[in-house]
Amino acid sequence: MMARKPDDVLSDPRLDPLKQEYGSYSQEDFEVWKILFERQYKILPGAASEKFLEGLQTIGFSAEGIANFEEANKRLADITGWAIHVVPGLIDDDLFFGLLYHKRFPASTWLRKKESLDYLEEPDMFHDAFAHLPLLTDPDYTRFLKELAGIALKFIDNPLAIDLLSRVYWYTIEFGLIRERGALRIYGAGILSSAGETKYCLSEEPQQLPYDVEMVMNTPFWKNKFQDRYFVIDDFEMLYASVPSIERNLVDLLEKGE
Ligand SMILES: [Fe+2]
Repeated sequence: MMARKPDDVLSDPRLDPLKQEYGSYSQEDFEVWKILFERQYKILPGAASEKFLEGLQTIGFSAEGIANFEEANKRLADITGWAIHVVPGLIDDDLFFGLLYHKRFPASTWLRKKESLDYLEEPDMFHDAFAHLPLLTDPDYTRFLKELAGIALKFIDNPLAIDLLSRVYWYTIEFGLIRERGALRIYGAGILSSAGETKYCLSEEPQQLPYDVEMVMNTPFWKNKFQDRYFVIDDFEMLYASVPSIERNLVDLLEKGE
């Protein structure tokens, strides 16, 4: 892959300009959104981070209607300046990190079907919108996301570096836990969109370890089963403050790997 300037991403031909066609959602789509929203909403108090629950209110999502990206973008613009960028599904790493670096969160607009509420080949809109977007209202969380993407762009032509940084993304943005007023809470979107993992990750079964950049970067992950360990932050400032050590550890590990 050719080295690219981060600014190229927004005009990249691989990213067709897509929009959420709100009028084309079916009755079943609305039902699926409502079922999933209500199911999660019931178990999230006392499990999800308060920042996430507040973000859900702030961004304006509810069970009664599928998330409206135009509305959400207006709210985010005023709060952190982030925006949703509609993508058809999974995208190449350089586009993914390029969008994040430009404060655009890639999200799909399709919803899973009623007969497969719990099994997905790829993240759908319930995961991307319900679980990811509410925390785009938090300044430290979004600063971390942008800076992590910035490191990834510097090393985008090095697959080992991208694997190591993906572990950081995985154990924070997707599967991170946070301690709030002494209690373990969830902020990772991969957990927040899964009823099963929401209960499992706070139980005594998996390990909940303090967030440690070096350990995270040395911990491979699974995509198709619950994690056996989670990493716990004290607050989102801690994530943002860990950015320099992510880059330092990355450079060290790459030197060792060569
Ligand atoms: Fe995700």
